[in-house]
Order: sequence, then C-alpha cells, then structure tokens
Amino acid sequence: MKISHASFTDFGSYGSNGFKVDKILPIRYCSPFMNILAVDTSCDESSVAIISVDEWKLKSDVVRSHIGKMTEYGGVVPEIASREHLKGLPSAISEALTQANLTLKEIDWFVVTSHPGLIGALLVGVGFTKALAFSENKQFSTVNHIEAHLFSPLLCTLEGKTPPPFPWVALVVSGGHTELFHVKGIHDFQWLGGTLDDAAGEAFDKVGKILDMPYPAGPIIDKLVREKATETDRTAYAFPRAKIAPTSFSFSGLKTAVNNQAMKNRPMTEAKKLSLLASCQEAILDPLVDKVRLAQKDFPGAAIVVTGGVACNSRLREKLPEAYFPKPSHCTDNAAMVALLGGLLYKEGKLIHASWDESASPSWNPDVTP
Ligand code: KG4
Ligand code: ZN
Repeated sequence: MKISHASFTDFGSYGSNGFKVDKILPIRYCSPFMNILAVDTSCDESSVAIISVDEWKLKSDVVRSHIGKMTEYGGVVPEIASREHLKGLPSAISEALTQANLTLKEIDWFVVTSHPGLIGALLVGVGFTKALAFSENKQFSTVNHIEAHLFSPLLCTLEGKTPPPFPWVALVVSGGHTELFHVKGIHDFQWLGGTLDDAAGEAFDKVGKILDMPYPAGPIIDKLVREKATETDRTAYAFPRAKIAPTSFSFSGLKTAVNNQAMKNRPMTEAKKLSLLASCQEAILDPLVDKVRLAQKDFPGAAIVVTGGVACNSRLREKLPEAYFPKPSHCTDNAAMVALLGGLLYKEGKLIHASWDESASPSWNPDVTP
C-alpha cells in the first residue's frame, strides 16, 4: 500500500488526521483530575487503556487479540476483524474500567485511533468511542496510530523510568508500516522515508506463508531462528538488499527471491527451511539496521528508537544494541500508546476536541486514496 505523507506534521487548526475541527475547547474546560480512556481498533486487536494524567500512571491496559480467528485464513480478513471488534470492544472497555477501578462517569476525555488502518475496524472504534464521549458529554479526540507507535518509548515514564532523550531517529516497523522519522519533541517530528512496497512485518508474514507457516509468521520465525539456526544458516542464501534511496525500504523483491528458492529446494526439509528463514530474516533486518544508523549520521547525537511489532524481534534487538526498544507488549498494537499520546498532547495543550462528524480514514492523508 502506498500512502501519502503530506501534511502529517502540519495540523494547524485541523485534527491530527487532517479533518477540520469544529472548535478547540480551552484546557480549563477539563476536570482537574484527568482520566483519559483510549481505544485502538486499527487492525486485529481490540485495545483499551486508561491513563491518569495527574498521577502519570497507566490505570489499565487491555488488549483483546483476534489473531486466532485469522490464522485459518493466513492473514487478517478485514470484515472478520470489524465483526470481532464489534463483539469484543464493549467488554474490553468494561474490563479496562474495572482494572482502573473507575466508572465511565470518571472518564474526562475519550481518545481513539482514527487512522491509518483497516477502515472497517477503525470505524468500529471511532463510532463506539465517539458515542461514549457524546453520551457522557465528555471530550473526544482522534489520534494517528503511527504517531502513537512513534511515542510509545515514552510509556516507560509511566513506570518512573527515564526515556531516551530527544532528539531521536525513530523507526516504526510493523505489519503495515516501515517508516523512519526524525523526532525533536512531542508532536514535533519529520518523516524521513519509508517502504516503497511491503512493510517489514508483512515481509516476515508473506515469507512464512510461502513456507506454510501460520499467520503471523514474524514471531514464529524469530523464535525458530533464535533457537535453532547457526551462523551458517544466516548466510546460506544471499538474498537481495534493495539498492534504493538511503531512507527508503523495499521488501517485495525479497519475497520473490524466497519463493524462487523454495521452488528450487523442493522437497523442503526442516534444515533447508531453517537456512531459508535465517538468511531471509537477515535480509529483512539488515536494511533496517543500516538505514537507521545512516540516518543517525545526519542527526549527530540523536538516540535511535525502534517501535512497532517487528521491534519485538530478538535478532533486531541484538543487531542494534545502542537502540531503545519499548517492552514487547507495547511494540505490538495496544491502546496504552494511544492513551499515552493523548496524555502527552493534553499536557502540551495540543489535545483538541474533534468534530462529532469526524470519521476514520485508512491513510495518513484523508485526501489520498491508498
Ligand atoms: O505493530 P503490530 O502489532 O501491528 C501493526 O500495526 O501492523 O505489528 C504486527 C507485525 C506482524 O507483521 C508480525 O509478524 C510482526 O509485527 N512481528 C514480528 C515479531 N513480532 C511481531 N516480526 C518479527 N519478529 C517478531 N518477534
Ligand atoms: Zn500498529
């Protein structure tokens, strides 16, 4: 999926997804005891989290994964994801309130991911969250899923830990995105480049599919290679590394190369499969490592941070020992990062009330159809 990145950081009087807002409510309108309930339904997890801004504490962190439902189809089926959100979101919200020991009335602000993601799945989250905010007569805001991943390294501040200092060179690397940023501060960042075709997580999952592995193959390949592969396996196949611009990525050629090798190597033995996977993992990770380090040269002193589902990968963590990675449960999709972003924007006076007409969008720029 190719998307436009225009106007990502230039919100002006627009909501974070580029839609014009009706009004910006003054901060004094808010209760002094600020609890934000956040929802993320961008893909196949119904996630809900609550942050107490005053205590700077995560009060609840619920992730209902629907991956199990997708395994038999070999990938996410958007229609099924939407239906699972419809079924799972109400109870995930109840569970989050119970975990936080709060009632709906004690929530001051409702924040939801509105883009990018699967449109049907996003619509369930946006519709549900908006309805809750409207019925409770509370504030309602929308945020960008990629921006939530981007600032997820700051989740550690909710546990009293010190985050990596700004500026950052940050890589958001997930099932749908491989994006490189220069981050100067909260809500202050510049997109440097991204994938021209498949995302890195998508490459893991597609290679897994070629080799008859269940979806999502990324974590399975990581574990298998970590536990069984040797150095020889990692270099057994010289898979291509795309020769493109220093801040661009491309993984579709790799998928074709793995497919060709899989055909040549029939019948596939476990040993051959291990070598293919270990070599392929190196070919996915090497460009990530090289390009994030190259970008750091343009911003001397910047910390490297890596987030998104692929940031769980143990080999990537090994190859980038100088980088900061959030804990794995906060690398994959979660609403804690959405609640955190809501809290950070609120503290900066930048959390704006969205129009009640606001909807979801699959892309970053709603004017561009992906
Ligand atoms: O961030 P995420 O949960 O959802 C998206 O926003 O896409 O990322 C999911 C992606 C999947 O492609 C999955 O295969 C990949 O992250 N992934 C991994 C690992 N854990 C999850 N890829 C490689 N190694 C892992 N350990
Ligand atoms: Zn994500």
